[in-house]
Amino acid sequence: MAKMWEGRFKKCVDGVVNDFNSSVSFDMRMYKWDITGSIAHAKMLAKVGIISEEERDIIVNELKNILSDIESGELVIDMNAEDIHMFVEEVLTKRVGSVGKKLHTARSRNDQVALDIRLYLKEEIDNIVSLVRECAEVVTDIAEENLESVMPGYTHLQRAQPVTFAHYIMAYAHMFSRDISRLRDTKERMNFSPLGAGALATTTYDIDREFTAKELGFYGVTKNSIDSVSDRDFVLELASDIALLMMHLSRMSEEIILFSSWEFKYIELDDAYATGSSIMPQKKNPDIAELVRGKAGRVIGDMTGLFAMMKGLPLAYNKDMQEDKEAIFDAIDNVKMCLKTFIPMLKTMTVIKENMLSAAKKGFINATDVADYLVKKGMPFRDAYKATGNLVKYCIDKGVVLEELTLGEFKSVTDSFEDDVYEAIDLMTCLKGRKVIGGPNPDTVKTDIEEVRKELERYE
Ligand code: ARG
Repeated sequence: MAKMWEGRFKKCVDGVVNDFNSSVSFDMRMYKWDITGSIAHAKMLAKVGIISEEERDIIVNELKNILSDIESGELVIDMNAEDIHMFVEEVLTKRVGSVGKKLHTARSRNDQVALDIRLYLKEEIDNIVSLVRECAEVVTDIAEENLESVMPGYTHLQRAQPVTFAHYIMAYAHMFSRDISRLRDTKERMNFSPLGAGALATTTYDIDREFTAKELGFYGVTKNSIDSVSDRDFVLELASDIALLMMHLSRMSEEIILFSSWEFKYIELDDAYATGSSIMPQKKNPDIAELVRGKAGRVIGDMTGLFAMMKGLPLAYNKDMQEDKEAIFDAIDNVKMCLKTFIPMLKTMTVIKENMLSAAKKGFINATDVADYLVKKGMPFRDAYKATGNLVKYCIDKGVVLEELTLGEFKSVTDSFEDDVYEAIDLMTCLKGRKVIGGPNPDTVKTDIEEVRKELERYE
């Protein structure tokens, strides 16, 4: 197949090389941004007098036609093309003749591809942010309905202290909010145009980089042409943001899997978001949550693949960098797919408050409160800790919980116990007493929900 760069070569490339070298099968998804970038470039070429206004109009109009023809399906992207950039330019030249050959003046595919990915990723970041935001909003809705749903909080997966389902699930709202802020930061940092950097050393034409940057909605231009074409930090940064976000979704999935098991049964997934077993008729499996957990591993793989690909590259552009696309596209596709399934799964799941409460009643999660009770009566914390430990040991042997002990039994450990101990270690008291900022007290959590919602609104 004839190549645009064929002048220097004595032979056509081998078919196998053509397939190996080609990126069109995956970079075709950037066609809109490639064409948009070319339109801005053509306008700039006319502005500085490199092409005439008539030539600009011919090029710009035909590029617009190419865009709409691809979108309508009239123009099928040729899988034999080397990449999307070559394809668009070839079609343009075929359609408008030699005027089309002027488009690539003062430009290289190196700055072109760096531009296209930035434009494409900026749009995808917005798409991901709006999904994460929706997910966080669903979390705040669930929290609002469970301000007083007492459950055991865990450390080491052992029942630890009383919390509510609202308090617990809001932890994820905060993770998602940080995810959004990270994604937005990444977008801010990549919002500079590399167009005009050329192959690596700009050009001798007096081009106007600021003009194209403005046309394309960038804050400004990148400042070093070698960096401009060899920088993929923004791809790695986004992959890291997505990996982190997937890690959050994966941890939440793990808990959904755990909490929907009969061992916990704190939640029940809607039938539409669970699957059955081919052999065991009783099974209802949390496949979605498991797949999200699994895909988190895959996306972390995309991220590490990108780091490995970049870490040894000399400046400036190297073809290795073509490998950035499949990895980042995979991460983007997967996180979007995960969120689109995860959100309705979350929305439709049932919270079984009674089961949380009965687990909360069984795990000595008010033991710290017994110790704190003694401290408030004047005992040093370490002594109070030990006295309570002895009480717990006694309870375990007897098969009861702390609040079931008689006052006499309490007093057998220390005389500091009085009648008010029962009220002091009631789960609701323990919960409401924790009104320190960040704590599970229902009013405290309510305030937190309101604040997070306001934060999310700002992300519109
Ligand atoms: N398809 C290439 C990529 O994705 C475009 C840039 C090619 N540049 C070059 N000099 N071969 O990286």
